[in-house]
Amino acid sequence: MAAAVDAIRSEHRTMAILLDLLEQQVDAFEQTARPDYDLMKEIIDYFLTFPDLYHHPKEDLIFRKMKARDPEEIAKFGDLEEQHDKVSKRLHAFTHAVVNVMLEAEMPRDAFVELAREFISGERKHMQAEESIFLPAALKSLTEQDWDEIDGKVREFTDPLAHGVDGSRFVLLREQLDKLGASPA
Ligand SMILES: [Fe+2]
Ligand SMILES: [Fe+2]
Repeated sequence: MAAAVDAIRSEHRTMAILLDLLEQQVDAFEQTARPDYDLMKEIIDYFLTFPDLYHHPKEDLIFRKMKARDPEEIAKFGDLEEQHDKVSKRLHAFTHAVVNVMLEAEMPRDAFVELAREFISGERKHMQAEESIFLPAALKSLTEQDWDEIDGKVREFTDPLAHGVDGSRFVLLREQLDKLGASPA
């Protein structure tokens, strides 16, 4: 039951590691102005490709089901779709900043660092709230039949870093996760 929740939790673990790696690069940018741009770009590509496009819609589907089943419980958490909108906007603002910095366009260093840190801390807070409030509430409120329906719909939304998925993408991220012994199953 609730394979979708297991998948979401595993994706959160991977995203948390990628945020740590990104933070190291932002620190490197601040200290030496020589971060690993290739790694940074891959992390951003990953966030644009997977969490923004597939992970959040998966959670939105659960959220909408809960709104119908248990509006009081979900009211405690707030509007998840609105939160995803904000997360996505921060990601896009940060992405534009990275591209500008790579193009050596006029982009004050402080502004870049601020956008990067806003994105990282926003993602961390968002995941933390989902782990501690949203997912436990969903597991409490939804029925086995709801989960069957949800699992059936999101089964195809596989993490591109998961084992067995085409390994030609995100090569640097796979390497990093391997090194940390944290490759998703
Ligand atoms: Fe989310
Ligand atoms: Fe999430």
